[in-house]
Amino acid sequence: MHIYLDTANIDEIREAASWGILSGVTTNPTLMAKEKGADHKSTIQEIATLVDGPISAETISLDGEGMLREGLDFAEWHPNVIVKVPSTTEGLKAVYQLAKHNIRTNVTLCFNASQALFAARAGAFIISPFVGRVDDTGIDGMTLIREIAQVYRQHEIKTMVLSASIRHPRHIIDSALAGADIATCPFKVLNQSMKHPLTDIGIEKFLADWKSRQ
Ligand code: E4P
Repeated sequence: MHIYLDTANIDEIREAASWGILSGVTTNPTLMAKEKGADHKSTIQEIATLVDGPISAETISLDGEGMLREGLDFAEWHPNVIVKVPSTTEGLKAVYQLAKHNIRTNVTLCFNASQALFAARAGAFIISPFVGRVDDTGIDGMTLIREIAQVYRQHEIKTMVLSASIRHPRHIIDSALAGADIATCPFKVLNQSMKHPLTDIGIEKFLADWKSRQ
């Protein structure tokens, strides 16, 4: 399973990229809005200089034609740009048209397996089920990943399953076990994933022993 970073923050992307674990980046309008004053196009282009992999940029139109227009524009920004559209019938129209232009799409805000199946049939490159937001409703979000992964596998669908709305380190491992191709993670969760008290205690002990050697 590939690891993407879910942010539009350049410092976080630069840091995580230096760890050598990043295969891509996802952004959305909320994440863009957190980067006060940042221009959408230049942010995506700067991210593309830091990470050599798919960079999702999200459309804001509600109609398929508007999403298509935005998508055609985004695709000019960098060859690694993936056009993000919502899991709606208008989103499907945009996916279908963009695929004819060989432009890759990420269908976001997916909350059931039918949306995932239809997105794939329309030609989506990535489907993004939102695990954390499903968990918030009291339903197990990971079941959604498992169902979509199984449907895709059983019907030899090539669309990649991206586990989104990741809230904690366990979500990453459970996504991998459930068959996701990608997990997109907030920087905080990537950091938490590499923390273990026994690692810190072990380092301290090794250093103390090293200093005390004769
Ligand atoms: C995915 O591409 C989305 O940007 C993201 O995972 C949304 O997560 P949230 O529920 O934490 O906003």
